[in-house]
Parts: sequence; C-alpha cells; structure tokens
Amino acid sequence: MRAMTIRPILIHPDPRLKKVAAALDDVNDAVRALAGDMFETMYDAPGIGLAAPQVGVLERLIVLDCVKEEDAEPQPIAMINPEIIATSDETSVYEEGCLSIPDQFADVERPAEVTARWLDLDGNLQERDFDGLWATCVQHEIDHLNGKLFIDYLKPLRRQMITRKMQKLKKERTRE
Ligand code: NI
Repeated sequence: MRAMTIRPILIHPDPRLKKVAAALDDVNDAVRALAGDMFETMYDAPGIGLAAPQVGVLERLIVLDCVKEEDAEPQPIAMINPEIIATSDETSVYEEGCLSIPDQFADVERPAEVTARWLDLDGNLQERDFDGLWATCVQHEIDHLNGKLFIDYLKPLRRQMITRKMQKLKKERTRE
C-alpha cells in the first residue's frame, strides 16, 4: 500500500471551490488513494471534514470524522457521490468553520437531522441518519461538492469581510 500524503488545502477565494464537482462512476484504487490522502490531510489540519475540491480535485468525494474527544475511537467515514435524501423540519445552529477559510467561524442554521446515501470505498451503497455535529458536517461537506461554502449562508457584508481577510492571508502566504 502506498503511503498517504498530506495535500495542500485550497484557500478561499479560489475558483475551484465554486465549481460543481463531477460524480465518480467507478470506485477504484485511485479513489481509495485519494480518500486516504484526504483523511491524512484532514487529521493533520486538524479538521472534522474535507471535500475533494478543497484539495483541488473536482470529484464527488468527502471524508469526515466528527469524533472530537481525545481518547475516543476515531470514526472515519468516506463518502462517494453522497446525497442528502431526507432532512428534518427541525433545525439547529452550529458555529461552523472550514479548512479553506482558516480561523473564521460563524453560526449557520441547517436541518438538525439528515439521511445521507453514498457509496463506500468498496463500492457498496450505504444509508444512514445523522444528527448533531455529524448532520451539520455532512451537509457542509456535500455543499463543497456543489461549489457552496458556509459563508454563502451569511449576510453579504459579513461574507465580503471574511473574503477580504482571506485575500490578505493568501497574499501574505505567497510573500513568505
Ligand atoms: Ni469546509
């Protein structure tokens, strides 16, 4: 097995983060290798979710692990072509962040419970209900596959303020 690689994470604003990602029609070793790299990249960051477009791959693949307690067993989940097939009327608000928008956080309201359907890394169809942080995370990551960021839920002024901060951050990073 090939060693996993930490991939660079794209920082907003980047046109690749605004694109609709393509469905994967085959679950093969290349997809499994990409998922491995994405887990490595997510845990290293550290983060609780990562979508393929965030590492510059415009394909419908996300990884997540919302177990935050230090001594708890990790629960890595990779989802290929994930879909939300049901949502609760009840909503919840979480303070969200994003590895592509470092150090910026804002409250976002979303359905509190969702049912997701996806292909796992063996190509098997999976379906599961999520609530709490997991529900928010699944929705946030699937949004990435549709070119949507959590700041798109905010008022334009707030969004522009965050975008300007990120432009400045990117400029500073290229100077380094
Ligand atoms: Ni994100």
